[in-house]
Amino acid sequence: MYKLWAENTMQKIIDKLNITAPKIGARFPHVCKEREYDEERAKWWTNGFWPGILWMAYQQTKDEKFASLAAETENKMAYVLDEYYNIDHDAGFIWLLSAGADYRLTGSEESKRRCMKAAAYLASRFNIKGNFIQAWNWENGWAIIDCTMNLSLLLWASEMTKNPIFKHIAMAHADTVIKYFVRPDGSVNHVLSFDPETGEFLESIQGQAAGPTSAWSRGTSWAVYGLPLVYRYTRKQEYLDAAKKVASFFLANLPEDYVAHWDFRVPRTPETPRDTSAAACAACGLLELSEFVPECEKQFYIDSAYKIVKSLTDYYSNLDNDKQCILNGGTGDCPKDLNVNVGLIYGDYFYMEAVSRLMGNTDIFWYKP
Ligand code: GLY
Repeated sequence: MYKLWAENTMQKIIDKLNITAPKIGARFPHVCKEREYDEERAKWWTNGFWPGILWMAYQQTKDEKFASLAAETENKMAYVLDEYYNIDHDAGFIWLLSAGADYRLTGSEESKRRCMKAAAYLASRFNIKGNFIQAWNWENGWAIIDCTMNLSLLLWASEMTKNPIFKHIAMAHADTVIKYFVRPDGSVNHVLSFDPETGEFLESIQGQAAGPTSAWSRGTSWAVYGLPLVYRYTRKQEYLDAAKKVASFFLANLPEDYVAHWDFRVPRTPETPRDTSAAACAACGLLELSEFVPECEKQFYIDSAYKIVKSLTDYYSNLDNDKQCILNGGTGDCPKDLNVNVGLIYGDYFYMEAVSRLMGNTDIFWYKP
């Protein structure tokens, strides 16, 4: 139904990338404040998104310039995989969208090895007492909602090896997400603390939310998308039920233009920052969810995703100007006043993926075709 609109929008994205990709090059763009993307260090959690965008552009066009820039970026960050202590819960964001997409589209064995190595590192972070994958490297007992999206790397690794070990770990962590992270009203905690020795749940930590009991919109979107991805591989009904609950909370708390504020529980004024990256990620999650619900519910999720993506296109995008980021209005870390109301590379990635999904593309990098 939205296919034609999505095809036209994708063409505009590709036209833009034809100009911006050679300028951005094989680097690590993260934040766009003025006209151009800043460059991150090679170890940052966002570094899979630019290669992911380039591989999506390659998927659409078969233009080798996109593939070679993506592969070059991946090669530049490959050394990080040899530094175990720099790997954390975000291994999926980084490696599935770079090396994973590379292996998928070119068959590169080197890329497959990189992705498997990242999966093994991610699996090694599992705390068997608390049933969670440890966040970061400075607090042994912390777990984070963002990791829900990274479970796809483990599920991919189980598919690749035909060994369910990785899937068992992903499901144990997902069980913890629905038991402790998802609240009864469908909002989610960002960071939770457990006793790393006994596994006992201790407390909710504020993280990037306005407070420990508020509702950070990007964290919510990590669950809106991460949970149905886990359901896709495992078919455990509880994951789908939890995904629908979180999606309902997300949708019920959207403002009139369908683009989420950075936290759903802060007072809203015209100045309250939005987070277009949360909006774009949630749109992908809603489209993923739509594949698993009964026919009578399907259109609701697709329509909701379209409304979000259409609003992002009409009011927050740079498709018709020369700013490097595709979307404006992203918010990185509001409590730290860091990267508020800017372009964010992961917002661009999820926006492009959502448009690609609305075109009917089912070759999505988070799961095996
Ligand atoms: N994964 C960190 C963030 O969403 O900002």
